Amino acid sequence: MFSVALIGAGRIGQIHAANIANHLQSSLRYVADIHPDSAKTLAKRHGAEVAGVEAALADPAVDIVVISSATDTHAELSERALLAGKAVFCEKPIDLDIERVRQCVELVRQKEGKMMVGFNRRFDPNFAHLRQSLVAGDVGELELLMIHSRDPGALPIEYLKVSGGMFRDMSIHDFDMARWILGEEPVRVHATAASLTDPTIAEIGDIDTAIVSLQCASGRMAVITNSRRAAYGYDQRIEVHGSKGMLNVANVVESTLVKSTVDGVVSQKPKHFFLERYSDSYRIEWDHFIGALKGEHALWPSAEDGERALVLAEAAVTSLRTGRAVELNWV
Ligand SMILES: NC(=O)c1ccc[n+]([C@@H]2O[C@H](COP(=O)([O-])OP(=O)(O)OC[C@H]3O[C@@H](n4cnc5c(N)ncnc54)[C@H](O)[C@@H]3O)[C@@H](O)[C@H]2O)c1
Repeated sequence: MFSVALIGAGRIGQIHAANIANHLQSSLRYVADIHPDSAKTLAKRHGAEVAGVEAALADPAVDIVVISSATDTHAELSERALLAGKAVFCEKPIDLDIERVRQCVELVRQKEGKMMVGFNRRFDPNFAHLRQSLVAGDVGELELLMIHSRDPGALPIEYLKVSGGMFRDMSIHDFDMARWILGEEPVRVHATAASLTDPTIAEIGDIDTAIVSLQCASGRMAVITNSRRAAYGYDQRIEVHGSKGMLNVANVVESTLVKSTVDGVVSQKPKHFFLERYSDSYRIEWDHFIGALKGEHALWPSAEDGERALVLAEAAVTSLRTGRAVELNWV
């Protein structure tokens, strides 16, 4: 049984807490949050204790630290947990600054630590099936990858102000998925973007609508389209065009009801947002982490995956600023 301390009792922290508590091989021992009421409510829900970060890390009974606090705390908390000898599950992104992320990756290497990054979409059963089918050769060689990822509506402006911008905060999931499905690092990144959905997003210097194209050394290409607003709900689709066919994952809808009347044929909207759409993926992600700690399979997505996705986000930021494609040399 793995004993877990969770830091950050907000939206995603509450999802992780439930999955930790419900897993047969993990138990939630501590919840820490700078807002005492948030920590108290979540701890009470799962029979855990409230603790400060210091106390939780000092407890030798704690095996795993889950970091689901605000983005600007991830790198420091991950390092402290690794130095305390704990296995770390850290939400994306590890940090907004690539050099800071590299320091974390280096510490994982030096300490031979265990650190997984929360790129949960790899564990979505539909996307996992798509990749499995691609790897099995069902559609031959991948030539084109299309990832459409659009939120139902903008997040609170206070969140967006500290999010690091759409490429580092939101598109980072799509950069990770692109790397995972392409099976090859993109070497050229071009981004074009605008703020079209909400003037307050432009006022804080961010964008809300973007197209990013990626190209690998083999010539294979990916296109990512992002928006902070989709009037019809959370739009999450992936298409692989291969030499022998096409794979396509459609949106997961609220219900499979299709209403046919004289006015037309109407199906249901996509599930509202990430908490609903990806609930299975968070559960499977946690089970995968526990399995990796037990030595049943490799630990991924790794801290290095976190670094590489951020490199692509940085390249998109640079491309947008300069209006030119950015060439990447992976070491
Ligand atoms: N993988 C995913 O699908 C996914 C989804 C949502 C958020 N996230 C990531 O998770 C992180 C949290 O996002 P959220 O939407 O849950 O935010 P949130 O604002 O709902 O929750 C963050 C919580 O962390 C607490 N906190 C902040 N600083 C802290 C500190 N130093 N110590 C302890 N607690 C602290 C806050 O009080 C808050 O309760 C972000 O980095 C975000 O990028 C990932």
